[in-house]
Amino acid sequence: MRLKKRLVKLLGALPCLRRSMELLNGNCLDILKNIPDKSVDLVVTDPPYEIIGGKSGGCFGREKRAYHGELYDGGNLDVGCPNEVLEELVRVMVKPNIYLWCNKNQLKQYINFFESRGCTTDLLTWHKTNPVPTCNNKYLSDTEYILYFRAGGVPMYGSYNTKKKYYITPTNKADKEKWGHPTIKPLGIIKNLVINSSKDGDTILDPFMGSGTTGVAVKEVGGGQTFYRHRARQRILRDSQEKNRGLNEYLAI
Ligand SMILES: C[S@@+](CC[C@H](N)C(=O)[O-])C[C@H]1O[C@@H](n2cnc3c(N)ncnc32)[C@H](O)[C@@H]1O
Repeated sequence: MRLKKRLVKLLGALPCLRRSMELLNGNCLDILKNIPDKSVDLVVTDPPYEIIGGKSGGCFGREKRAYHGELYDGGNLDVGCPNEVLEELVRVMVKPNIYLWCNKNQLKQYINFFESRGCTTDLLTWHKTNPVPTCNNKYLSDTEYILYFRAGGVPMYGSYNTKKKYYITPTNKADKEKWGHPTIKPLGIIKNLVINSSKDGDTILDPFMGSGTTGVAVKEVGGGQTFYRHRARQRILRDSQEKNRGLNEYLAI
């Protein structure tokens, strides 16, 4: 018995045996086609938002132009997410268990898609205290949404502290500058999603990884095997250097 306890303790101390991560760089639709059916326990992802007529109006012209400029010029950040990708995500998940960040233009598409496949819906919100001042003839763009869809029988974990459905925080300008991505999401929110909907050893997929926030969240929460891509690698590398660890050691976690 004592030996078993010791062995468990030792294995627990070897991060590479507990968790691993894989970063894949490319168009997620192509990459998803190579991921086997029913091999992913949880998807946490932030696809491009669908921006309709985004270049008009605004009461602070320069700020608004800069905001839309970074979405349009940064590439692929305003085009939405086709159902073709959602179909692939349903195929690779063991059972639908998915968080999708989105704006109001995508709510109908995502809800129709997943509810027609028998999923239940939860709506979480992120209220930004420092929104871009684009408010001519419209409300401020100060709220973003996280839709959570799951099939019957998919369990939730977490606690009172991780299960609230609204978050009120500023956008993280420091991280945007540090990691060079215009739509970085708050790490704390994503950590709660991971805690609430996965357990140790689960495979977690983010096909629209951006700067890697989902990967960092999974690493910090522990457990899980994550699929990453592009910029995330840079961010993880820098983070690992700041913590004086080798990249290989870090990616093995
Ligand atoms: C909204 S951002 C995700 C930001 C991320 N949540 C973060 O905190 O850094 C969406 C990302 O998906 C990328 N993207 C767009 N189309 C893609 C595709 N077909 N395959 C893979 N990535 C794509 C964009 O370039 C962008 O980096």
